[in-house]
Amino acid sequence: MPLNLILMGPPGAGKGTQASRLAQRLQVPAISTGDMLREEIRGGSALGREVRAYMDRGALVPDQLIIAIIEGRLQRDDCSRGFILDGFPRTVGQAEALDRALQQLGWSLHRVGSLTVPTDEVVKRLSGRRTCRDCSTPYHVSLDPPSRHDTCDICGGTLQQRDDDHEHVIAKRLEVYARDTAPLLDYYRDRGLLAEIDGRGKHDDVLAALLAHLDVPLTAQTIPVA
Ligand code: AP5
Repeated sequence: MPLNLILMGPPGAGKGTQASRLAQRLQVPAISTGDMLREEIRGGSALGREVRAYMDRGALVPDQLIIAIIEGRLQRDDCSRGFILDGFPRTVGQAEALDRALQQLGWSLHRVGSLTVPTDEVVKRLSGRRTCRDCSTPYHVSLDPPSRHDTCDICGGTLQQRDDDHEHVIAKRLEVYARDTAPLLDYYRDRGLLAEIDGRGKHDDVLAALLAHLDVPLTAQTIPVA
């Protein structure tokens, strides 16, 4: 059975940071709906033009758009061993659609990890975040700086500030998270799938806590912790 995981948490909790580390460790794709939407915007597609206004003001894009994107993505070959969803689902409607999609594929969810970080810390993280324009790797000007100024350590791409990482949009995103996404914690808790993990501390410590709390079998962990 594929190792199907979800990473939840408020904006800035470290979902993207940890999803890519988990993906490398488990050799399954990290699927970020935020990255997929930003790619559409960069490519100038009709979908990109449609979603930009929602994202720039910190609102969720409509469920039917994002559900169609995810349904298509899960059918790609690289998901046959599992996946890590980052930023999806974000509403109860999305969670129900995911349940239906997985049922059709004959799969189920393994665990849902929720990273907990206090609000003042996530505001600090988001206002200082810089993201690689090419590979989306997140950095932070003081908490997690790149080795070379404004240059990605991984691909050499240029780092930039996301349009929704400005103070007034951050406040809106946190409000939307509390109203629309936090109720999903009970949705998954009631199904016995939720693990809450402290998202503070060194990246490797958070990763180790995730691997332990998500009950990831040792046989699925292909790359040892350095
Ligand atoms: P999305 O891109 O998903 O943004 P988000 O959920 O707000 O999450 P972030 O990417 O801001 O934060 P993160 O938790 O990944 O943190 P990160 O690892 O980068 O969505 C953007 C928009 O797209 C939404 O507002 C919406 O409009 C739309 N959208 C996306 N999905 C949707 C959906 N399903 N439905 C509808 N609309 C959707 O880390 C943050 C910073 O902290 C970085 O600087 C990092 O270096 C630093 N950091 C990470 N970990 C640590 C640590 N342990 N200690 C110190 N610093 C750390």
